[in-house]
Amino acid sequence: MLLTSYRLGNLILPNRLVMAPMTRARATVDGSPVASTATYYAQRATAGLIVTEGTHPNEVGQAGPFMPGIHNAAQVAAWRVVTDAVHANGGRIFAQLMHGGRIGHVEVAGHEPVAPSAIAARTDVFLPSGVVPAPVPRALSVGEIREQAQAFGDAARRAVEAGFDGVELHGANGYLIQQFLSSSANLRTDSYGGSINGRIRFAVEAAEAAVDAIGADRVGIRLSPGGQVQDIVENEMPSLYAALLKALPDMAYIHVLATVDDEVLMGLRKAWPTAFILNPGGQIGPNESTREQGERWLANGADLISYGRAYLGNPDLVERFRLGLPLVSTDRETWFQTEAGYVDHPSYQH
Ligand SMILES: Cc1cc2nc3c(=O)[nH]c(=O)nc-3n(C[C@H](O)[C@H](O)[C@H](O)COP(=O)(O)O)c2cc1C
Repeated sequence: MLLTSYRLGNLILPNRLVMAPMTRARATVDGSPVASTATYYAQRATAGLIVTEGTHPNEVGQAGPFMPGIHNAAQVAAWRVVTDAVHANGGRIFAQLMHGGRIGHVEVAGHEPVAPSAIAARTDVFLPSGVVPAPVPRALSVGEIREQAQAFGDAARRAVEAGFDGVELHGANGYLIQQFLSSSANLRTDSYGGSINGRIRFAVEAAEAAVDAIGADRVGIRLSPGGQVQDIVENEMPSLYAALLKALPDMAYIHVLATVDDEVLMGLRKAWPTAFILNPGGQIGPNESTREQGERWLANGADLISYGRAYLGNPDLVERFRLGLPLVSTDRETWFQTEAGYVDHPSYQH
């Protein structure tokens, strides 16, 4: 099944493998991808779909050093080199729009981080010089919340200008969108907090802004239901996600991490009308997603399967699955910011 084709919006994917979004922290200090970024993604162009590393839609959304953005003309031009390289190799690529919210630092973004409420995450954030405890963010006003939602629409438009086939909103892993969904990060008592309808409002408005900007066929959203990284608690889960799926606009896909039990995941699958991408590994679980898990989830009704860590060391993952070739696993030390471990993993040497 993994090696059969699938129609996603207006794209024909030659197989069901999605390269999961993975931050690599190799952009310039001002957030432009570099020449090796194009090489890296072009090496992986046989994936049915590539989703890029988290890319901030505006300055304040930058979560960590050397992460790329898509909020100015220089970044759009630099991303154009990447998307051209992937398309020249026959691939398809979506940009992941990731707003860090309270996961960020003034020394990284040049702005105080913003969030639904002024509550620090009990976690560390990265500076160029090392890690520090996450700072207390500034709570957004209602007017500012609308601006942050619109930032996803503006970034989606720039992504299409940069040659991307679409965008994925990062609604998972404790960043801004999930902070609004959360009952620990979001203590608002206005229309953007409190009840389930309040907590889902920002996610829905951000998705609507992206859909209005570039069309339903080119927008997806990533979700980690019940996921607890970066100090997230979600009360009334799974009702929260049932309501969210009902309220989201028509769009190309949801990309769900296996952060909750199979029964809840199956319920979300059944409730969602378009493509369902499942990431078996969840939030960097102990084991990398496997081919067997992918096949099992396709049999259970998922349409596409995303692979993260397996794509770091195996640019030709599709071919390795096709031929049953061994997989290379990578050293955590090379995941972020190093020269090594980025474009130096070759295809299988026969
Ligand atoms: C180095 C690294 C960076 C990651 N960065 C992101 C990211 O920017 N956005 C995101 O949604 N998930 C990110 N993830 C999570 C992966 O997309 C994926 O969900 C996770 O690795 C589990 O899947 P796997 O077992 O196939 O690796 C990252 C994972 C790794 C290993």
